[in-house]
Amino acid sequence: MKETDMRTCVNRPPEDGLRSRPDKRDYHTMDDESWAVHGGNRVDDTTGAIRTPIVMANSYRLPPDPTSLDDSDPDALVYTRESGANQLGLQTKLAMIEHGEAAAVFATGMAALHAAFLTLLNPGDHAVVSDVAYARVWGLFHSLLPKKLGIEVDFVDITDLDAVRAAVRTNTRLIHTEAIANPDLRVAEIAALAQLAHAGGALLTVDSTFTPPPMLRPLDLGADLVIHSLTKYINGHGDAMGGAVIGARSLIDQIKAGPMHHVGGAIAPLNAWLIMRGSVTLPLRLRRHCDNALAIATFLAQDPRIAHVAYPGLPGDPQHARAAAQFHGGYGGVVSFAVAGEHQDRVRFVNDLRLITSAVSLGHDETLLAYEQYPEARAAAFAAPFRDHGLIRLAAGLESPDDLVADLDAALTTVYGPAC
Ligand SMILES: Cc1ncc(COP(=O)(O)O)c(C=O)c1O
Repeated sequence: MKETDMRTCVNRPPEDGLRSRPDKRDYHTMDDESWAVHGGNRVDDTTGAIRTPIVMANSYRLPPDPTSLDDSDPDALVYTRESGANQLGLQTKLAMIEHGEAAAVFATGMAALHAAFLTLLNPGDHAVVSDVAYARVWGLFHSLLPKKLGIEVDFVDITDLDAVRAAVRTNTRLIHTEAIANPDLRVAEIAALAQLAHAGGALLTVDSTFTPPPMLRPLDLGADLVIHSLTKYINGHGDAMGGAVIGARSLIDQIKAGPMHHVGGAIAPLNAWLIMRGSVTLPLRLRRHCDNALAIATFLAQDPRIAHVAYPGLPGDPQHARAAAQFHGGYGGVVSFAVAGEHQDRVRFVNDLRLITSAVSLGHDETLLAYEQYPEARAAAFAAPFRDHGLIRLAAGLESPDDLVADLDAALTTVYGPAC
């Protein structure tokens, strides 16, 4: 694995390098928890600070001969839309934790996804896309990419490999999926999809926002690019927004030289720094998110007031076998469920929760829950109870599982009466 070495990217050496310490750590021999703490961080050359400072500068001093700048180096520190000290540290860390050669970081997950798609697809190209995906990705492939850029799109059930195979055409350049799909939590089989893509001359991009490392590493399974909304688990604290694309250096360099440089979408240095800090505890937090989600899903699955539960960690869930074959250490922090009865009852249930907050997003320290009734076009691929009763997506936080279950039980009891 190649990793960006920040010291080679800085245009001029520090004048006071006395306190700098060469980085002798061999990340290749370390476990996930150690990478999460140390990856991408460096002792500051100037001050000796043991954390990379927040570098709030939108441009960097040019070398003595400005014409000597290497235009082909997309990480050269010149202008913060294209590169910056905090971005470089975060890119280094993300490449390490996802086992990629290089990473590009953006202001949001959508900026990262859009930059990857713009790089890989040209007018007249065809993409095979999961028919269940995050709303804005679904919208991007339903409207902007076909209507503005002439990209042809087929939506398929990504868990049906025969359907995916049948959808691939001679002009297919991309298969795109989420490892766990938002919001119905179907699980994609990454290695099989990578084989299908490559056999058809296409690339596989995997949005792994719901399955960050060490839970899943799509690149190890053959995916070409892995994409994250850093806003979620990798940051983990519900404050900063960010996005990343990780993969082979040749592809990442194209993404940087193309959409990142020409369209923008740069992450702010403060947000890169916050995400870097949040990611330090990712392996620890992820275990707790997964354990809490399993406890909640187990409670909901045995409760007669609940019409349907989707969670890949439940042994009876149709996604369980695929999830167990690919995921490490848990099944993710999101549980989707449906409550029968009237719409107004479900609204009361959501508003009767005391600990759990009604809000979109996921991967935060606090548990969030969002009740939505999806338009027919989007819900067509969902299980019938989600079409009939709407879908409640619960993103388990880090609280006590007993308190979370008690909160759900109390709100259900207020609206529907006790469970038995
Ligand atoms: C699976 C998935 N991918 C991408 C995004 C977009 O990320 P962002 O909100 O950081 O743009 C989201 C947002 O919820 C998501 O759930």
